Amino acid sequence: MPDFSQRSREREWIDDADLSADELVCVLRDLARFNAAMLGHWPVLSWLRRAVRNLPRDTPLTLIDVGCGYGDLLRVIRRWSRRGRRPIRLIGVDISRETIRIAQSATNSDDAIEFYAADVFRYHEAVPADFIVSSLFAHHLSDAMIVDFLRWMETNARRGWFIYDLQRHRVPYLFIGLMGLVTRLHPMVIHDGRISVTRSLTRREWQARLAEAGVGLNAVDLRWFIFRFAIGRLK
Ligand SMILES: C[S@@+](CC[C@H](N)C(=O)[O-])C[C@H]1O[C@@H](n2cnc3c(N)ncnc32)[C@H](O)[C@@H]1O
Repeated sequence: MPDFSQRSREREWIDDADLSADELVCVLRDLARFNAAMLGHWPVLSWLRRAVRNLPRDTPLTLIDVGCGYGDLLRVIRRWSRRGRRPIRLIGVDISRETIRIAQSATNSDDAIEFYAADVFRYHEAVPADFIVSSLFAHHLSDAMIVDFLRWMETNARRGWFIYDLQRHRVPYLFIGLMGLVTRLHPMVIHDGRISVTRSLTRREWQARLAEAGVGLNAVDLRWFIFRFAIGRLK
């Protein structure tokens, strides 16, 4: 059993560039399936609904998903925006060129989602986005980079930002291991899933990183959601 008292520095296989394209498709698809089965899109949509509640329906909006992976969250947001007739420009950014290619081919052109291969810290939109979201992304970063990411979102999100990530705890670690035994998920999803848990932050650590980034604790809504954290900031 790993040491849960501090963040692990073990790297996830998904962050290694020598993965074959065929394997990466299977991993990203299974990760998206697993996350959907764990209701992982729900906290993002729920926050977004709150975020637009007081905006007129025809307000044109822009949303960036950082570390967008397979692009599944953006497609879910597109379906939500269609149902609510909200015009929203959707942008996915991921550091991996191959991942972006896979996300593009998994997305119908009428979903009108733009995808860019870029390191988030080098990505600059001409116009700041209204919303910046990320799902299962923050734990890929070191503590110092998390602080930079929080500052980056503070600067680049006009209306608000949202982070959805795992909680470092033995329960999700054991649960993901169990899923490896009882499901046919790609073994890399299980391997990386367990490392992700050990790399993730506790509530106290999130509070410390937010304070270091200069984001007041009463300016954010930090919610626990079944061994995950949903951190929302509305300006
Ligand atoms: C675990 S995946 C999460 C994918 C997706 N958001 C999800 O919820 O399933 C993390 C993603 O972050 C991307 N990533 C890692 N570092 C990044 C960076 N500095 N800038 C942009 N994307 C990055 C990885 O390539 C990977 O696709």
